[in-house]
Amino acid sequence: MNQLIFAHRGASKKAPENTMAAFELAYQMGADGIETDVQLTKDQIPVLIHDETLRRTTNGTGFVQDYTFNELQKLDAGSWHSKSYQNEKIPSLEAFLKWSKDKEIQLNIELKNNVLEYNEIESKVIYLIDKYKLTQKTTISTFNEKSLRTICNNHPTIETAFLISSKIRDLYTHATELSVRGIHMKYHLLTKNFIKNAEKHDLYIGTYTVNHPILIKRMMRLGCRVIITDVPDIAKKVINT
Ligand code: G3P
Ligand code: MG
Repeated sequence: MNQLIFAHRGASKKAPENTMAAFELAYQMGADGIETDVQLTKDQIPVLIHDETLRRTTNGTGFVQDYTFNELQKLDAGSWHSKSYQNEKIPSLEAFLKWSKDKEIQLNIELKNNVLEYNEIESKVIYLIDKYKLTQKTTISTFNEKSLRTICNNHPTIETAFLISSKIRDLYTHATELSVRGIHMKYHLLTKNFIKNAEKHDLYIGTYTVNHPILIKRMMRLGCRVIITDVPDIAKKVINT
């Protein structure tokens, strides 16, 4: 099986998460894919930032959805990580897609609509993926089942993955009904049996966020197809030894 290393929010250990610097670094490190998180601005622009609020990863305060894209561009999204990244901004999804277009790298776009319900975030994101003809190398993931159903009904050609952070009953029935291709699961929930069952249901397993080399090896041996990590450089070394 071809096992893939995806950089979680970019190479987010060495560079500030969800910035173009972190994506570029992940690419330089040889990551097979990049995972990133999407929220919507006040003017409905998809932007890449993990939290619904600005405080942790920028010098702003309040909610992302209360600012226009232009207002958000005035914020520093890098200094919290280290001074040398002070010029990093919150990227738009569109800038990220454009950057990825001529690169051999897969995309895992996570819709952050499990806390706030962003109006039609699915079609806004898929519109941009289509615009840059990136469907073939993109997977959309979310914890939000309703959102997966919307994508499955309205955009059946886009590949989706169901994000899971705790055990849920009848997972395979849910996943099959949602027509997802994969399940991206918190690593501590994974067992050999779980992966075997997933395969029987024709689902692949991805796992997050796996940073320690021993854990990375363990997840590989279990048969995870995608390993999502903050340290793609380390994970690539582990996978190649
Ligand atoms: O997509 C995997 C992982 O990113 C999900 O959790 O909170 O890191 O976005 P979180
Ligand atoms: Mg994420």
